[in-house]
Amino acid sequence: MDAAMLYALRDPAGVPAHPVIFLVLGVLTWALHIAAVQVMLGASVLTLFGAFQQNPYWRRLATAMLATAKIAVSVAIVVGVAPLLFVQVIYDPFWYTSNVLSARWVIAFIVILIAGYLAMYAFYYRNPNLAAQPTRGAWHLVISLGLMLVVGWIMHVLSYQMLLPEQWMAWYAPNGQIDPSGRGLHGYSVTRFAFFILLSVAVIAAWLFAYRRYLMGRKDDDAAYIAWLLPLAHRLMLAGGVLAVASGALWLVTLPEKMAWFASSGWVWASAIALLAAAFFPRLLGSRLDQAGWGYAPFAVGAVALIVVGAAREALRFVTLLGAHGYNALDYKLNLDWYSTVLFFVTFAVLGGVVLAYLLTVAWQAGQSKGIYTPSPALTRLGNLSIGLLVLWIVQYFAIGFYVWAR
Ligand code: HEM
Repeated sequence: MDAAMLYALRDPAGVPAHPVIFLVLGVLTWALHIAAVQVMLGASVLTLFGAFQQNPYWRRLATAMLATAKIAVSVAIVVGVAPLLFVQVIYDPFWYTSNVLSARWVIAFIVILIAGYLAMYAFYYRNPNLAAQPTRGAWHLVISLGLMLVVGWIMHVLSYQMLLPEQWMAWYAPNGQIDPSGRGLHGYSVTRFAFFILLSVAVIAAWLFAYRRYLMGRKDDDAAYIAWLLPLAHRLMLAGGVLAVASGALWLVTLPEKMAWFASSGWVWASAIALLAAAFFPRLLGSRLDQAGWGYAPFAVGAVALIVVGAAREALRFVTLLGAHGYNALDYKLNLDWYSTVLFFVTFAVLGGVVLAYLLTVAWQAGQSKGIYTPSPALTRLGNLSIGLLVLWIVQYFAIGFYVWAR
């Protein structure tokens, strides 16, 4: 596939703001997406493990992790949409071709995701409080975990097939016979997928440190349970660090020839340093983990490490497509649209900021208080402001639509 052909597949309308904005936002939002995915996978595995233990602390942890996993799936879905939008804007020739080649799987993705989420809820329905009752129907959670991994595998294949334009024709018309069915998943790298999935161990460990710290903020919470969580988090972090480095190294040695440059690039060094720093950080903090806000720091450092990994993943794509196929994602035709660009950032900063601040504060404070929680008048005002801003946003959306339509 030559560069001219790839360029011809671009949207002739161009992009509404400089492509670098889409590139950077793609990396940042993908890091958020994968963090939520990894929390969800890690929490599901801890739930499953805890559900088979007699130890009351394990059962309490299983209850908490099931609640975490349920929320993490919805966060993963919501923040998965953002990189989906960014990738299809600047890499549309690659993303859409990859999607069309595996079209049935792209549609199945939604159905499998729904089934996986329902299976998780079916488990929850049967086990609303694992801490107080014997486990029932654990297979629901096994199925949920399996289906979530299938969903991730589909996303992996779609991302990976993008990088192999030289094979598209062979997949579309094997032996010269056109197969437009879209039933195949053609290009994949088991080691790359394993790396992103196994990172879940370190991420859930970082999450456990934060969970511990959060419980410490609650008055008269069980100190013995909080103490029990600490060595578990440390052990998981150590195992997660080893798994990340080992699976990452395996991915690098199995890179195809045109991507081999990546293995010795600064991106890999930066990622390795960031991941190792995140893995050793809790050890470094020692007893300070229990002081002030330090208990949350491992998760913050882990988030930075994930952004570095996300940037390296993007560099692999950008440089491979530029070097091997002559496609420069940053020379997309610019058709500047100030209104949509400003609207995007204002929505993100103002609406997103206010609504999220309200929801997170309510959830946080409700979780930290015992008995019935009543938000303060200031927080209630913030809630009203959130609703007002949402209404204003919807009104301006339709107003500008009608204005453009009527002109
Ligand atoms: C809930 C189960 C999910 C799992 C386990 C999962 C896992 C993954 C993994 C491992 C990758 C990296 C693939 C690679 O680079 O090799 C990925 C990428 C991606 N995921 Fe997810 N994902 C899930 C759900 C979703 C959902 C629901 C969406 C969208 C609504 C989504 C959107 C994306 C996008 C757009 C990418 C690629 C971004 C890019 O190439 O720039 N994912 N996901």
